[in-house]
This record gives sequence, structure tokens and C-alpha cells, in this order.
Amino acid sequence: MNKISYTLTVAFIASITTLALIFYLSENPFKKQDNQTLLPVITKAELEEHNSKESCWKEIYGKVYDITDYIAQHPTSPQVLLRWCGKESTEAWESIRSGRSHSQAALLMLEHFLVGTYQENE
Ligand code: HEM
Repeated sequence: MNKISYTLTVAFIASITTLALIFYLSENPFKKQDNQTLLPVITKAELEEHNSKESCWKEIYGKVYDITDYIAQHPTSPQVLLRWCGKESTEAWESIRSGRSHSQAALLMLEHFLVGTYQENE
């Protein structure tokens, strides 16, 4: 019986040591990923290049979104969105109808089009 407990204890310590080593040598797999730090930084000049229906990027709340493929699905005429391609568009996003902002659902959709974080000054 003592031999079994001894073996189990050694096995337990060995697995804990292995786990600790894995954590030490690799990046902690349980650490929450901060996607923002992995995103490219997009300057105002770069944003302004994407100002057409062929490539339409917008800055909203400090992030940049490529919404080119979404324009045709938006519930207004395309012109409403096209006006804002290549521009800082937070104000436009927040005032869609009598000062009301887009819904939470729209905000969630927006995240699918995220391409980078915005840096106004070079
Ligand atoms: C920044 C420029 C934008 C402007 C000026 C704008 C404008 C508008 C307007 C006027 C409406 C109201 C339509 C109606 O009630 O008939 C609307 C609704 C909506 N827009 Fe936009 N939009 C913009 C960007 C976007 C983007 C990039 C998305 C996609 C993620 C989006 C998603 C939606 C959705 C889902 C609705 C339905 C109402 C809601 O859920 O809030 N919009 N938008």
C-alpha cells in the first residue's frame, strides 16, 4: 500500500513539474489573448487610401474596419456608407437617426471587419 502511495506521489509531483516546465518554456496557453496588440497600426494616410467602393475602410472608436464587402448589405443606399470611406467615421456611426447610434448587434457585426488600430498622428 505504501509503495502505491509513494508511486502515486512521485507521479503527481512529476506531472506538476512537467506542467510547470511547459508553462515556463512556452507562452501561457490560458492567458487571455489581447487581439488588439496583434493588429497592425493603421495611419491616417493609409486609411485615406481606402476611400472607394473597391476598398472602403473606416475608423470608428479608434479602430479601422474594412467594410467593402458589407456596403451592399447595409440597410440604406450605398451612398450613405460610401461618403465615409477612408475617413474617421465615429460621428457618422453614432448619429444614424435623430442622434441615435447603431445597435449593439451592429457593433458586434462591425468586429468581423476589423483590420487594425488607428493612429491619427504619424
Ligand atoms: C459610418 C458610416 C455609417 C453610416 C452613416 C450608417 C448609417 C446608417 C443609417 C442611417 C441607418 C438607419 C437605417 C434605417 O433605419 O432605415 C443604419 C442602420 C444600420 N447600420 Fe449603418 N451606417 C454606417 C456604417 C455601418 C457599418 C460599417 C455597419 C456594419 C457593421 C452598419 C450596420 C448597420 C445595421 C446593422 C443597421 C440596422 C440598425 C441597427 O442595427 O443599428 N452600419 N446605418
